[in-house]
Amino acid sequence: MEILLRAHEITKRFPGVLALDRVSFELRAGEIHALVGENGAGKSTLVNIFAGSFRPDSGTIELEGRPVQIRSPHHAHELGIRAVFQQLSLVPALTVAENIFLGRELTAPGLLRKAPMAAQTLAQLGLFDAGVLPTARVRDLTVPQRYLVEIAKATLERPKVLILDEPTASLTDRETNVLFQLVRELRTQGVGIIWITHRLEELYEIADRVTVMRDGRHVATLPVGETSTDRLITLMTGRQYEQIYPTLQPVPATASVVLEMRDIETAHGLRRVSFTLRSGEILGVGGLIGSGKHLLGRALVGLEPITGGELRLAGKLLDTERLSPQTMLQRGVMFFPADRRAEGLLTNRSVLENMTLAALERFERAGVLLDKRKERHTVEDFIRRLAIVPPHPLVRVRNLSGGNQQKVALARGLIRDTRIFVMEEPTQGIDVGAKIAIYQLLHDLAQQGAAILFITSDMLELLHVCHRVVVMFQGELVATIPHEDVSEERLLQYYFGHRREEGGQSSVDAA
Ligand SMILES: Nc1ncnc2c1ncn2[C@@H]1O[C@H](COP(=O)(O)OP(=O)(O)OP(=O)(O)O)[C@@H](O)[C@H]1O
Ligand SMILES: [Mg+2]
Repeated sequence: MEILLRAHEITKRFPGVLALDRVSFELRAGEIHALVGENGAGKSTLVNIFAGSFRPDSGTIELEGRPVQIRSPHHAHELGIRAVFQQLSLVPALTVAENIFLGRELTAPGLLRKAPMAAQTLAQLGLFDAGVLPTARVRDLTVPQRYLVEIAKATLERPKVLILDEPTASLTDRETNVLFQLVRELRTQGVGIIWITHRLEELYEIADRVTVMRDGRHVATLPVGETSTDRLITLMTGRQYEQIYPTLQPVPATASVVLEMRDIETAHGLRRVSFTLRSGEILGVGGLIGSGKHLLGRALVGLEPITGGELRLAGKLLDTERLSPQTMLQRGVMFFPADRRAEGLLTNRSVLENMTLAALERFERAGVLLDKRKERHTVEDFIRRLAIVPPHPLVRVRNLSGGNQQKVALARGLIRDTRIFVMEEPTQGIDVGAKIAIYQLLHDLAQQGAAILFITSDMLELLHVCHRVVVMFQGELVATIPHEDVSEERLLQYYFGHRREEGGQSSVDAA
């Protein structure tokens, strides 16, 4: 196969960090080439160089056999290199069609002609099914919908090279499949695709070859068929793991119910949802996008107005009209939203400040003085457990890689004394080593009596990390499955609307 893009011995330094150390990389026409490695390994830096956002300090790049210097993102576009990054670039106030055609006005004059073309693109992507209309404003779309629009934009004029930096991190299974189809189609047209991911299992479905990076270096490039998850993990981390998922300890029969929802309804979506959560329990919440699994967590902390039903904490009835993340936090319930990148990290401040700002009371001594040593010690402990790189409390958060920023956000929450955790997609975008650490951490927290509502699109997490799993479908809770009975087939059945036969937790269809 023809070599489309060839990078030779690329080196890139940031102040104090050697992000890329003589990395060589080859992309063939018509291949999907996965790029994997731990958080901070240099994946985004490398593709940012291809996309013209960063200039390498040294090294050469050839496109279709000709040496090129990619001077800017605009220049990369002209060369046929398109990239979709972890931080999306859409303009929230503009419509989907306007965003797709932004910067292409010359080729498609007039909005009237843009809309049908955008409609065509979206139809191709199966985006209408996901509820995306060309006339919708981007600010009204969900994160996965935005992502798919961004991809529509990048692929509208067939690129030579398409770079997707963690494309599936914010997508659910259904959208992931839409994306798989699209990139397979582009592959047959000879497009070279670079696919960065932390979900190793998807490589086997989508990629032809995989390149592993570690600490800014190229470690190996292998055909996907000649490798295994274990091998890749070893190449990525330099370590061997006996076990990815901790062994689940049963919840003691005497454990008390710490949270109970009864017939909860919200203005937009949830219908008569009932479940209980016990001390020491990790309760998984699954379902497709739009199933209500995220509404469930948000309703619990007052981010979705509750219109009916009862909510109890340790048996005590709460006033559902007065819920907020802050008041729930005071009651020991902590919410981790899925889109942490967009949410409150102070990127100009240090890792230490970000981790401890929300938990200052824990480090207060005599009500006034901060216990600096204790603070520092706790922060260092989290840096070590979550393998945050660089492992230094005083680094500014904005200089960390995407995944390491997320670890900081997670640690910030875990550092508080919390009894109930409501977590949306806590391992999204996080590398395998840290994922293992997070599963262990959740497991330890549960062992110490905390209760965890674990909302996730990753089916393996529902299968392996949760004591029980509930499945949402069209705003209703349609199944409660104990750990021993959870299987992928079973989950999928419920994801697509199969109802459980007996009454139980499921509500009668009101519509
Ligand atoms: N703008 C920057 N300033 C300083 N250091 C940076 C900057 N961007 C990245 N780095 C550092 O370069 C290294 C590589 O980061 P990069 O973002 O390429 O990692 P990555 O492999 O994409 O990780 P992730 O999986 O977390 O997204 C990291 O040590 C990171 O802290
Ligand atoms: Mg990255």
